[in-house]
Amino acid sequence: MEKINEKRISRRDLIINTGKIAATAAIVSAGIGSGIKTAEAYKYKAVYKYAKVDPKMVAKVTYENYFKRWCASSVIAGFVENLKKEVGGAWKDFPIDAYRWMHGGMAGWGALCGTMPGAGVIIGLVTDDTDIAEAMTNDLAFYYAYTELPSFVPEKPIKAKIRHKTIAGTPVCHISVGRWMRAEGVGFLTNERAERCARLAANIAMEAAIMLNDWVDGKYKPKHEPLFNVVANGITSQNNCRDCHGGFTPTPNETYPTLEK
Ligand code: HEC
Repeated sequence: MEKINEKRISRRDLIINTGKIAATAAIVSAGIGSGIKTAEAYKYKAVYKYAKVDPKMVAKVTYENYFKRWCASSVIAGFVENLKKEVGGAWKDFPIDAYRWMHGGMAGWGALCGTMPGAGVIIGLVTDDTDIAEAMTNDLAFYYAYTELPSFVPEKPIKAKIRHKTIAGTPVCHISVGRWMRAEGVGFLTNERAERCARLAANIAMEAAIMLNDWVDGKYKPKHEPLFNVVANGITSQNNCRDCHGGFTPTPNETYPTLEK
């Protein structure tokens, strides 16, 4: 990391060099940095309304749905089943399974863990503000990456007893599940692994429900800087460069000619 830190561009430079891109607008409009307001973040309207739901109930329904619907759609089910009761309306016909393809980091490609985009679908539909949805999903990724998970324990385990919690260090499905599999000593197509992902999905659903409930009460404050990794690393990233680059992590180009176009 030393090398990168020496050469990495400061947030100020990035803002100056990329003044026109939306990324900067999000940083600036969130009040971090110069405090200049821009019109880049905007409100929108969706028909889906939110009312406070019990995070533990959201987690429970998510967990129970996992073995049929997998990560993304089970988080969505956790919210929808509860919001059907608390709000009704459009939630009654919500197409929970329209997002099932997000499982396994998108149809098994091991990219972004489906729990977060699953929660993000709900967050985006109810908050009606691009900045709030961005801040919440960013906080969710930090929580996912840097918390020992899964910590959710079901009353009755559906598939298996499991022993380990791990820190993913990233929101990437493959790395997250791979680290846990190594700790637990099991393969991917096992009851243990399914149990782990079900509990993890419950954790993420619960965390998202806590954020949304705070937001209803006017208490939600972003915990983390928006676009933190882009700004800190000069490229869309997580902070785990060596997982893939080993000791030869490239230093981002400091002038960013491509972003200035
Ligand atoms: C999940 C794996 C992975 C992680 C984690 C990762 N990278 Fe990369 N990165 C890649 C791959 C693959 C490429 C494409 C390189 C290639 O094909 O030569 C790349 C390309 C890049 C490039 C552009 C290519 C270049 O030589 O300039 C930069 C800069 C870079 N990474 C920096 C970083 C930094 C900084 C981090 C940590 C904050 C990081 N990467 C984390 C996989 C990763």
